[in-house]
Amino acid sequence: MAIQKPYNDLLTRLDNTRLPQHIGIIMDGNGRWAAAAGKARTFGHKAGAEALRRAAEICREIHIPVLTVFAFSTENWRRPPAEIDFLMRLLGQYLQQELSLLQKENIRLNGLGDWSILPAHIRQLYDEAKQATANNSEMTLNLAVNYGARQEIVRAAQRLATATQAGELKVHEIDEEMFAAQLETASQPELDLLIRPAGELRLSNFLLWQAAYAELFFTPLMWPEFSKRDILLAIIDFQTRFRRFGSI
Ligand code: IPE
Ligand code: IPE
Ligand code: MG
Repeated sequence: MAIQKPYNDLLTRLDNTRLPQHIGIIMDGNGRWAAAAGKARTFGHKAGAEALRRAAEICREIHIPVLTVFAFSTENWRRPPAEIDFLMRLLGQYLQQELSLLQKENIRLNGLGDWSILPAHIRQLYDEAKQATANNSEMTLNLAVNYGARQEIVRAAQRLATATQAGELKVHEIDEEMFAAQLETASQPELDLLIRPAGELRLSNFLLWQAAYAELFFTPLMWPEFSKRDILLAIIDFQTRFRRFGSI
């Protein structure tokens, strides 16, 4: 199966001195992938969770410091309740089942987004996994659930406004660095590469601030069919880009 294809040839093509320090993935196309196979959307979500395991393993193997994956957006509450319910149960299973892999691979789990309104047992599993992996140091896996970049930015603005109102801060002291420090990715490396599968050419409210100078990689492949090779191919493509950052 394509998903298990060997990838050693691609490892030799990687420039280890120019690896992205932070990769973001919008895990999209689960539903369409399942529908194309005549299956229910839920089947696609399960396969999507397996694609996430492959992505985390390969990123860890080649020493990417931070991987951020978009699992559920603030807009995904608009979906039918049965699908939301399934996604929440899948998240619970993921947190439970992947913990041993995260430990074995020395990966730290970190949630992005507002988890406070998620079902209590999910929050508990998350708290346990976060605590258990807190000292893992090979890679950070940011799991974005009930995450929206606009909300993240608004919350940052509110915190700075509160501090200003309390007299702890002057308006002219607020700069990009201070603002970024209020975001959920504070103290993490800049987003270098943003991957969006499933042929959609938009960001869907993911990491808007952080994506300012990220290299964007769009592909028609659906997320469940993403192999370790496909992740490596995206990184190899990233390494061919000339990043000017506004210079010439
Ligand atoms: C991404 O796949 C998973 C979530 C948004 C939770 P989709 O469920 O959006 O799949 P498509 O885009 O309908 O194919
Ligand atoms: C983005 O995918 C959110 C996640 C992958 C979690 P969507 O499928 O929700 O995005 P749109 O609706 O196509 O923009
Ligand atoms: Mg989608």
